[in-house]
Amino acid sequence: MAEGQVRADGAEGRGAADAPAQEAGDGKGVAPGAVPRVFSGMQPSGEAHLGNYLGALRRWVELQESHECFFCIVDQHAITGEIPAEELPLRILDLAISFLAVGLDPERSVIFVQSDVPEHTELAWIFNAVTPVGSLERMTQYKDKTARMESIPAGLLNYPILQAADILLYRAGAVPVGEDQLQHLELTREIARRWNGRYGDFFPEPVAIPGVGGRILGLDGKAKMSKSVGNTVRILAEPEEIWDRVRTAVTDPQRVRRDDPGRPEVCNVFTLHQHFTDPDHLDDIAGQCRAGTRGCVACKRILADSIDEHFREVRERAAELKADPRRVRAILEAGAERARGEARATIREVRERMGMDWRGAWG
Ligand code: TRP
Repeated sequence: MAEGQVRADGAEGRGAADAPAQEAGDGKGVAPGAVPRVFSGMQPSGEAHLGNYLGALRRWVELQESHECFFCIVDQHAITGEIPAEELPLRILDLAISFLAVGLDPERSVIFVQSDVPEHTELAWIFNAVTPVGSLERMTQYKDKTARMESIPAGLLNYPILQAADILLYRAGAVPVGEDQLQHLELTREIARRWNGRYGDFFPEPVAIPGVGGRILGLDGKAKMSKSVGNTVRILAEPEEIWDRVRTAVTDPQRVRRDDPGRPEVCNVFTLHQHFTDPDHLDDIAGQCRAGTRGCVACKRILADSIDEHFREVRERAAELKADPRRVRAILEAGAERARGEARATIREVRERMGMDWRGAWG
């Protein structure tokens, strides 16, 4: 599959489930007719929030229908930030619970913690050898994150190399990512090409599967939803907390008084309604906004109720898992075991092609 090309089944909405299996990756390393393989990762910043859900998790759940999926809690990436060591274990547990509660299914998908599979960092080191520093320095996320830093950890520069290793360790052909990660995926393809160029065709050049929701703005209506900005809602929030957060949401700035006519098309609350409110009610919501017959507060109340309802079962499943962390642990152990099997096979082949299998070569 050509560089930059987006999978046909990466299109919004339905389609993923009935995508023909032979579209998998680019054919390299994937048996014809095999189920295409997907890899994606998320940093353990704790419980998932609406942005994680709309931008990634909802899509991941769907992809399980049609793809062989690897979903990874990327703690090795997280340590390039400033997560206190004493908080990391709980954040991993909370994210694992969020994964499982929204419907990632350990029977179908491989769900695991990155550092349980040391081959990720081994392959990352190997990719360090074929990646130009210039390519790393050009990464927008790197430039943004380090703009005001006095001393930059090398891990932030090399972050996308580890990401490439995550994906290519499983020779995944497709990666569901948000817009902000497209550049990293582009670099992953560059790394695959360079390594293949030197050691022979082995790694596929993975393509992006875009998120369902596009860019999800936070409740502030300005920045992308993120926990650190504090402009989002935890997916496991109880109804009172959901309302507490949603009531702060910024609406159409032109709507000052309750009966001013509003513009749903520029209102982020309406965008969120489109994700969570019963589609049959959307005409009424947009209509009453335009007519100025329903105030923003009442409109947000409906949104908070929709979110509450949407995640009710998710909260119930999460409560069960919280009460039984040993079950979560067993799932992550089993996931790591499966991941390690795949990872070892890749590394064996990589070492051999790179001349590191000296015993075998000596005869
Ligand atoms: N860098 C990604 C993010 O912050 C997380 C990530 C790590 C990832 N490894 C990955 C995403 C591999 C996709 C594939 O969102």
